[in-house]
Amino acid sequence: MGVSIEQFQEHGGRLRTDDLDFEAFRRDPLHPDVLRCLGYMHDIEYQTVLYTRELLLTPAWKDPQFTAFLTLWNYEEYWHGQALGTVLRMHNRPAHDTRLSAMRTWNKRYLFWSPAIYWGISHAVRQFPAVHMTWGAINEWTANAAYNRLTEVANHPVLTELLHRIMRQESRHAGYYASAARDLLAHNQRAQRVTSWFLRHQWAPVGNGDVPHIETSFATAYLFSSPSGRAMVDRVEERIDALPGLAGLNLVRSALEGARAHVVAQEGFVPDACTP
Ligand SMILES: [Fe+2]
Ligand SMILES: [Fe+2]
Repeated sequence: MGVSIEQFQEHGGRLRTDDLDFEAFRRDPLHPDVLRCLGYMHDIEYQTVLYTRELLLTPAWKDPQFTAFLTLWNYEEYWHGQALGTVLRMHNRPAHDTRLSAMRTWNKRYLFWSPAIYWGISHAVRQFPAVHMTWGAINEWTANAAYNRLTEVANHPVLTELLHRIMRQESRHAGYYASAARDLLAHNQRAQRVTSWFLRHQWAPVGNGDVPHIETSFATAYLFSSPSGRAMVDRVEERIDALPGLAGLNLVRSALEGARAHVVAQEGFVPDACTP
């Protein structure tokens, strides 16, 4: 059986940041490429409420365990966005509502239709819960890898502490999604086939379509091109491979190659993230 909501809610809650020295970023600022990744992560964390808006239109709203999870998950991701926004503000970069309003305007056509799309697909595809839970697990695993890699690249004590706290919550999210996905995929070949189809044809690193495509590509290529980054991607692939019926998809590795090609085509090169 998967992780129960009682287990899930026992830890977590609002991310603690009141004891962190954000002023340290004024004395010892982060590299612009690191800030670009943090901007992308800020946007995605804050986007969770709009994912929640879509997910509540799927038939899963009937399950109180699911709505409880969505509530807590959305709350925790909100505070991740808040914390990353504070880091951006310390560098006099736009953050919080300024970025979010711009993003929602930029993407308003998709955001107008996305609830209808989710309603339609989730009512037409009986196995949609397996797709969603697997998708969620992969996105939490990749988010965790990205934060982990960002601590290495930035090598900044305050950022490291903040990201470690965020990563502890992302691991809990991943654990919940993955155990639900395992339950839904196990002994259900149809769920495995449908999930595998959606992942092969529709999956892209989180944020694709929510923020300009080049920002997703930049963060992916910048963070994961090094040997250490590629090793983290391999670990995510191993976790996906271990889900029932989903071996050998190579999703993140191919997304990394696509992201690298996109950044090179648009910006000429993938900047070196300075560490192995
Ligand atoms: Fe998060
Ligand atoms: Fe998360």
